[in-house]
Amino acid sequence: MKIQIPPYVHQFPAPALLIGCGTIESPNLITCSWFGTVCSEPPMVSVSIRESRFSYPLVKESGEFTVNIPRIADLDAVIHCGTKSGRDTDKFDDLKITPVACHPLKSAPMIEEFLLVLGCQVKQDIKLGSHSIFIAEIVSIHCEEDLVKPNGKADPFPEEQIVYLDKRFWIPKLMK
Ligand SMILES: Cc1cc2nc3c(=O)[nH]c(=O)nc-3n(C[C@H](O)[C@H](O)[C@H](O)COP(=O)(O)O)c2cc1C
Repeated sequence: MKIQIPPYVHQFPAPALLIGCGTIESPNLITCSWFGTVCSEPPMVSVSIRESRFSYPLVKESGEFTVNIPRIADLDAVIHCGTKSGRDTDKFDDLKITPVACHPLKSAPMIEEFLLVLGCQVKQDIKLGSHSIFIAEIVSIHCEEDLVKPNGKADPFPEEQIVYLDKRFWIPKLMK
């Protein structure tokens, strides 16, 4: 027999991504799992950011962010960027990673050492409550040459991506 419990979020697997914002000179990274694919033509994604985050005004004012896709080996970076604030520390410096330009974005940095990065331009932002959602078009994809498949798309290294569910990190496994 089911009983009814109060509503909340966190029931589904989500990615854990490093969102790049700010500028090359003053870059920041925030770990976000409240992220989704929302349209294929044009290709669009969404990310929800709490307004109190240091990253929030950086994305809001520039209208840009990058989506840096971590691998299992990057879990420490995911945790660091999800627990430290850019107000207090330079996360690129802490992690010894390099902020580089993400053409055609004007300011938001991407992580040079990551294999697959999306450059995104915000089209709409909506205040929801605790978080605001940024709906953005993917205007560029930057990936290591070796990852490009014959069909011109990038291999998204599915078995190496990090899944976030129930406040814990999981490793995806091929079923079919
Ligand atoms: C796995 C994980 C997922 C997170 N997802 C989000 C998210 O989707 N939106 C958000 O606002 N904060 C999210 N956070 C919290 C921020 O990453 C965290 O508060 C971070 O320190 C904010 O950095 P900033 O102050 O430099 O912006 C997440 C944290 C973790 C560890």
